[in-house]
Amino acid sequence: RKIHLQEALRIRESKSADAIYTTQKRLEALFHVAVVTVYPMIEEFVNIVNTCDPRHGDYQCNTAMQLCQWLKKQGKSEKAVDIAALLVAALPPNDLIESTKINPIGFVNVFLRNDYVTERLTTLLRKNVPPPTIPKKFKVIVDYSSPNIAKEMHVGHLRSTIIGDSIANLLEFVGHDVLRLSHIGDWGTQFGMLIAHLQDKFPNYLSVSPPIGDLQSFYREAKVRFDDPNEPEFKKRAYNCVVELQSRNPDSIKAWTMIVDVSDRENKQVYKRLKISDKLQNRGESFYDEMMKDVVKQLDEGGHLKLEDGRKLMFVPDCPIPMTVVKSDGGFTYDTSDMATIRHRLQVEKCDWNIYVIDSGQKGHIDMVIKAAEVVGWYNPSEQKNQFVGFGLVLGEDSKKFKTRSGTTIRLSELLDEGLTRSAAKLQEKNRDKDLSKEEFEAARDAVAYGCIKYADLSKNRISDYIFSFDKMLEDRGNTAVYLLYAYTRIRAITRNSGVSAESLQEYLQATPRLPLDHPKEFKLAKKLIQFHEVILSVLESLLMNGLCDYVYELSCVFTEFYDVCYCIEKDRKTGEIVRIHKHRLLLCEATSAVMDRCFKILGITPVSKM
Ligand code: ARG
Repeated sequence: RKIHLQEALRIRESKSADAIYTTQKRLEALFHVAVVTVYPMIEEFVNIVNTCDPRHGDYQCNTAMQLCQWLKKQGKSEKAVDIAALLVAALPPNDLIESTKINPIGFVNVFLRNDYVTERLTTLLRKNVPPPTIPKKFKVIVDYSSPNIAKEMHVGHLRSTIIGDSIANLLEFVGHDVLRLSHIGDWGTQFGMLIAHLQDKFPNYLSVSPPIGDLQSFYREAKVRFDDPNEPEFKKRAYNCVVELQSRNPDSIKAWTMIVDVSDRENKQVYKRLKISDKLQNRGESFYDEMMKDVVKQLDEGGHLKLEDGRKLMFVPDCPIPMTVVKSDGGFTYDTSDMATIRHRLQVEKCDWNIYVIDSGQKGHIDMVIKAAEVVGWYNPSEQKNQFVGFGLVLGEDSKKFKTRSGTTIRLSELLDEGLTRSAAKLQEKNRDKDLSKEEFEAARDAVAYGCIKYADLSKNRISDYIFSFDKMLEDRGNTAVYLLYAYTRIRAITRNSGVSAESLQEYLQATPRLPLDHPKEFKLAKKLIQFHEVILSVLESLLMNGLCDYVYELSCVFTEFYDVCYCIEKDRKTGEIVRIHKHRLLLCEATSAVMDRCFKILGITPVSKM
């Protein structure tokens, strides 16, 4: 407990040191000191939450109630209000708390000091919105996007791509070392028929790159031949090709590489349009192929496999079905390849944290792989962490599976094209094509289209199914990308149009230890801005990106409240001449756009300066 207290004090003492602790953490430290002062036998840490109602202060400490319960169990009866009063009296001197209020139930409402808030805000601005301090930096693998070769990337992969990329951005922002892996389905028996078809269709494929424009149709053609009873020879050759590919025959490898490349080029176009990080690298099933034999051997030797109807199964505790590690024909499965994958990530990559961003339909499969890895002894859950980060289905506006009008699955490139058309129409409706240059208009169109598609996904709780609706996502009111992008450009324009140079604002900022934020709306905005760090930490905990979306949206609403009543520039009503410039308010605008910018970067949204 001593160490706890030391730690608490260290947090409390580090005011403007390099470490960036959130207000919530600082308050926890203060109340912790109070708790151990009054009740030296208590081990428990304190619980501080944000308040929703400003009448109840900025934060609330609920510990008195917990203590009351705890004491009751010890046979001591003390009222929560009285405990709260003792805690408040034992709070060490500090620079955060303006006042506290104890409500009859025993909550302690905490009101922040203005100079504390303004100092935090000034630091935030001077350091250009740095990340909050995290206890430890990890090596993290994020497995996302992960489409299958020869099958078109579909909306499920789109969700994985958008959510995974944003989670990886967040982890990188706070300083983790992130490896982004796309676990593509680039191995398996379907390659036999693809290669056999390639040999027929482009006989000179070894010397000339085949112009496969559309891998989907190519796959369909191959499949038709494979299933055709009049082409028994084709089926046989397809099986042979699988064997040859497995034994790494150079010609088969060449054919396989070509097919993978075609698919990869198509996927890369989607990534490029959506500005998905180019740090995302393909490391799919083929990469782990050679390791699978050894994995099976290890599982066999460890006595983990049971022979049943010619198959080798692994029964994993708490899992309803066993894993099929070896099929009756001796082949391997998705289970086998994910076992090889997890072993490689834990033991060769030595990652501290392994994250799978996949649709919730695969939760059972991944959970089983994680549990199996633990049973086999590949990792210790107290040292490394594996986590399934699932998401729901994409539904159409009819709440049924997302399909085109004719009932076929939607191609991503066409979906993105439709987004562009709709976004251009929306901007034209507002006559933006008249005010913007061609380049500006196109930049705005792209920002709106791709921003909307991403934001609509990220702003919902990822666990739920999600209804894809261009009409909804292109609305310019409410918590949508269009609203936020507009808000952002308007805020940027305030300083730009004020005539005050960036340099003179910087000079003012450097010369002012604390911005004078006396108006209640200035204070409210400043409090919202310094909340940024808490939001980052809480989203880091849950990996629910909608928490960050809600925050940017609330921030832009609080900004509007401020801007409605606080003039940055005062002009003479008659002459239009500038009579007064409030530099600290311009800096509040700058801070707001800087924080929004950080959030957009994490969410993968590209704002534009004119819209
Ligand atoms: N390729 C798979 C699919 O499209 C997703 C792979 C996810 N990652 C993994 N390690 N299993 O369903």
